[in-house]
Amino acid sequence: MRVLSGIQPTGRPHWGNYFGAIRQYIDLQNDNEAYYFVANLHALTTIRDADELRGNTLDAVLDLLALGLDPDRATLFVQSDVPEVSELCWLLMSGTPMGLLERCVSYKDKVSKGLPANAGLFTYPVLQAADILIYDADVVPVGQDQVQHVEICRDIAQSFNHHFGETFVLPKPRVLEATARVPGTDGEKMSKSYNNTIEIFEPLKPQRKKIMRITTDSRPMEDPKEPEGDHLYQLYACFAAAPALEEMAAMYRRGGFGYGEVKKAIADASEHFFAEPRAKREELAAHPEKVAEILADGASRARLKAGEVLRRAQKACGVRG
Ligand code: ADP
Ligand code: TRP
Repeated sequence: MRVLSGIQPTGRPHWGNYFGAIRQYIDLQNDNEAYYFVANLHALTTIRDADELRGNTLDAVLDLLALGLDPDRATLFVQSDVPEVSELCWLLMSGTPMGLLERCVSYKDKVSKGLPANAGLFTYPVLQAADILIYDADVVPVGQDQVQHVEICRDIAQSFNHHFGETFVLPKPRVLEATARVPGTDGEKMSKSYNNTIEIFEPLKPQRKKIMRITTDSRPMEDPKEPEGDHLYQLYACFAAAPALEEMAAMYRRGGFGYGEVKKAIADASEHFFAEPRAKREELAAHPEKVAEILADGASRARLKAGEVLRRAQKACGVRG
């Protein structure tokens, strides 16, 4: 199976992103032909600062590599290093009805949040369709919010196939079962929009302070507590191995403990859990030439496939002999 997904380089990943998404994407590299890319052309629809975009793009690459994306198993590249995708985007554009894009939730969402309605934002799903179709992807692992984009991609591909003959593979979205709804520092779902995130790679000292300040209820220490519904327990469960978690659950049920102890356990367990990615990220950041090599290799592998599919599409619609 060929698997493909893109990650926009906007904002640093937090614990919720890792346990809810990134970890599963990376796992898919083991039994599939996987393509992962950093969608810098998509980010250009909202970022207006060249250094910021360059920096974010590199950060996203380092994050993925540090968290276990293996460039020997998966093809990792930056979207703009495969110019074929922009060319395919144009071929798809002419067959994309305005109405299809006007119905697109993410566009309406962004404009209602006050982002200027530029053409890039409006045609964002067509570029995303090109991203997917150009690698003959069978499966696109995404969060729920991206399902509509994959469906639009299928519509665009079907319409092209209908007019010009079988050209594109029809991809399927794969929504990850939310393995975890990771709570944030206020107990609500962790999310950039709620300002309650703990970032994977933020410096340890302030991170520990943040963990020690997580909101808790004011039940007396002596009371026994049900672990499952408690957000501190849920956070600990992300990091702890089964025996340690059982021990924690037993402590909740016994009562007579302070939430400070749980917070400290979370801080220790998360530090241990992400120690290797942290070290790996630092090492990669210190060797930009290695990262550049990985990306150049990823781009050349991606271009091989992209070139093949682009030529197929060009022939089908008559812009190539
Ligand atoms: P945010 O809500 O911080 O803006 P995104 O919408 O960019 O995060 O989420 C990217 C991916 O991370 C989504 O596919 C979603 O499944 C996952 N995710 C985000 N927050 C959480 C969370 N608190 N718990 C589980 N998964 C999450
Ligand atoms: N739009 C996706 C997001 O915001 C990123 C993305 C771009 C993507 N191209 C893609 C995801 C192709 C999957 C497939 O998260």
